[in-house]
Amino acid sequence: MFSEAHKSRSIDKGQGSRVSVSEGILFRRFSPDGEDSSQMSELVFDNAFLGEPFDAICPCKHWFSDVVLAPYIEHQPENIHVAVHQASGRLIGYLTGSTGGTRFEKLQYQMVRRQVVSLAASLTMPWTLFDQSSRQFAAHVIFKGESERPNHPQTGAHWHFQVDREFRDRGVGAQLLQRFVDDVVAAGFSLIWAEVSSYPKKPPGYFTDRGWSIYDAKPTGLFADHVDFPVETLCITKPISAFEISARAA
Ligand SMILES: CC(C)(COP(=O)(O)OP(=O)(O)OC[C@H]1O[C@@H](n2cnc3c(N)ncnc32)[C@H](O)[C@@H]1OP(=O)(O)O)[C@@H](O)C(=O)NCCC(=O)NCCS
Repeated sequence: MFSEAHKSRSIDKGQGSRVSVSEGILFRRFSPDGEDSSQMSELVFDNAFLGEPFDAICPCKHWFSDVVLAPYIEHQPENIHVAVHQASGRLIGYLTGSTGGTRFEKLQYQMVRRQVVSLAASLTMPWTLFDQSSRQFAAHVIFKGESERPNHPQTGAHWHFQVDREFRDRGVGAQLLQRFVDDVVAAGFSLIWAEVSSYPKKPPGYFTDRGWSIYDAKPTGLFADHVDFPVETLCITKPISAFEISARAA
């Protein structure tokens, strides 16, 4: 967490332009000019293998970031928050959230399914265009993707977030989450949830110690050929009442 001395300054210029600054990190809403989305694509791909670059699993950066990000960029852009390192201008964290409930989830499912179909079609390409590990990844997504997803609450808002490894464990993720919680309060939801990976470094107790409840858990074999420990996907939840509500959202 940031120390008292470095607590964030908030400047409220209305819903679209609220920014805050902490220790040289600017927090603001997503800008649809293309630059944020391209840096978000890099970041998610760099983090997606349990916090490490995903290319060991599949060098399919464009496909992967499209699957993960496009539904939010197209349908929930107002619920995306970014963290920018002011000195370099580099995007070092983002949160994609949804207050769109099951309606958004249906759209997301359709978009992801279209992408999975295109991936299945690409499996018919020559081996040289799609290497062995990518084929394994694609087959896993196609045949196991849905069954390895934990159940989640039918109400509530959900989110995903990513922070560049050089900036982790300093409260950047918590600040992004707090900004989204303010949106969730304004949208009238009382619960938030997320799907997260659990493995020996982040066992279920890591989350319960931080006040999260585990709604459901499913083992995943997505990384089985690359790590020698079990990985589970957890659906974690927290009531909004457990968060401090910022004055601007109250
Ligand atoms: C997870 C991640 C985004 C957290 O950001 P961070 O800046 O390193 O972490 P912070 O110091 O701000 O603390 C994280 C806060 O988010 C909460 N949290 C929710 N989900 C979390 C998760 N998957 N991992 C860690 N913290 C998580 C923690 O409880 C903590 O809040 P608290 O201090 O109120 O308990 C970052 O470490 C990261 O990108 N890791 C690799 C990729 C990843 O696991 N992404 C999450 C997928 S949803």
